[in-house]
Amino acid sequence: MSESAGTDAKRYLVRTFGCQMNEHDSERIAGLLEDDGYERTDDESAADVIVLNTCCIRENADNKLYGTLGHLKARKAENPDLQIVVGGCLAQKDAELIQQKAGHVDVVFGTFNVHRVSELLDEARDTGPITEIWTEAALDEAEAFPSAMPVRREVDHAAWVTIQIGCDNSCAFCIVPAVRGVEMSRPYDQILDEVRTFAADGVTEITLLGQNVNSYGRDLQLAKRQAGDPSARLRPLFADLLRDAGAVEGIRRVRYTSPHPKDMTPEVFAAMAETPTVCPHLHFPLQSGSDKVLAEMHRGYTGERYLSKLAQAREMVPDLAVTTDIIVGFPGETEADFERTLEVAAAAEFDSAYTFVYSPRPGTEAAERVDDFCDPEEVKDRYSRLRMVIERSGRRRHEARVGNVEEVVIEGPSKKDPTQITGRTGQNKLIHFPSGPIKVGSYATVRVTEAATQYLKGELVEVTHTARHRTKIPVLSL
Ligand code: 5AD
Ligand code: SF4
Repeated sequence: MSESAGTDAKRYLVRTFGCQMNEHDSERIAGLLEDDGYERTDDESAADVIVLNTCCIRENADNKLYGTLGHLKARKAENPDLQIVVGGCLAQKDAELIQQKAGHVDVVFGTFNVHRVSELLDEARDTGPITEIWTEAALDEAEAFPSAMPVRREVDHAAWVTIQIGCDNSCAFCIVPAVRGVEMSRPYDQILDEVRTFAADGVTEITLLGQNVNSYGRDLQLAKRQAGDPSARLRPLFADLLRDAGAVEGIRRVRYTSPHPKDMTPEVFAAMAETPTVCPHLHFPLQSGSDKVLAEMHRGYTGERYLSKLAQAREMVPDLAVTTDIIVGFPGETEADFERTLEVAAAAEFDSAYTFVYSPRPGTEAAERVDDFCDPEEVKDRYSRLRMVIERSGRRRHEARVGNVEEVVIEGPSKKDPTQITGRTGQNKLIHFPSGPIKVGSYATVRVTEAATQYLKGELVEVTHTARHRTKIPVLSL
């Protein structure tokens, strides 16, 4: 979406590796740069600034980063004014290493000082390469959740809303607490203000973001009680937040990711059921079905407990789609452990799952268990068996939707077949259907006619809401 032709403005390009939190940070980086007069380009050779927003949750992030940096070295040799910036989780964790390995990087900054990107670029232009990593200790609340920080949203109708940063859990495989720090909840009213601002701007769908969203507010309540405020509520604030965000005028869909099964309460399911705008979709990370592995991961639940919470969710929230994350090959995972994961996954009847091969993250507890690492061939075999179980239930659940009329939000032309339009249902499923032009971000009802493992096919019934856009209106023309 570069509109920069013919101006003298500097151009930037942001590449994102990683999760939604990172994508949202990239939108912030883009917003900050645009506020400072930069214009976006998608053409690497036209960029004056290239930002790599890195991730370190799973393996290969390092390889990918150093590969990309190697290739950018040649670009910088052609254009010495090009500024290369590395931000995100890997930068937070490995700042020194990045500067050692890649001297052509101009700025390295972490996850806690995203708001400094423009200043750092200016400083580096004057004084040479800069590394600036903050820890959460350096943050005050305004910096942790800079609501005034401009955001350059990727789409006009949907927005992410950070409700919490950091994570207080200590899952043995996970590097997130080390790089994103302790859990900090964003003030309640600040979140709702942001949702209202988005709604006034034509946003109809929001996704509440955090590492452990259903423990949202724990720290806020604790701080209030420590300060002697008896009004500090002890009940989970996340359920209230779902209701209040879902009631904001103009908001048609509320999503959230990710909750932690151990902290999930019936209040949250009730809020989902009773707030019509909250989508009937639960991302519920299982990680493993084996009680032994779950205990070693420090997940705080057993396979049975997970399934019973899931049953409660399905009972309380009608027509709920459920997705999950599962790791295969955690250190010490035996064939019997894995078979239990298969059993729990089959019983859970997931709509779909992100499945990962365990990857040791230096600095985490599980990465120390080198002697217990699983045989890669065995893991490969387990992984494909798990995929079969997931895909079987995914297909079955999709087939059960054939004949339904479902409301979708229009995402754009189908990536594979531009004669089709792609919409997303409340259950977070993609439906492809033939249609004339419909504005991206509009809502329509679609009759489901066919099911596949990863998507549905359908036919348009009617457009129910036409998008109102702030900026250029991307009209599909077929
Ligand atoms: N190896 C494999 N998968 C991991 N995840 C997090 N850390 C690791 C790791 N070291 C997965 C978990 C988590 C998801 C975001 O990434 O399943 O829920
Ligand atoms: Fe990582 Fe566990 Fe925190 Fe999720 S809950 S971010 S998996 S430590």
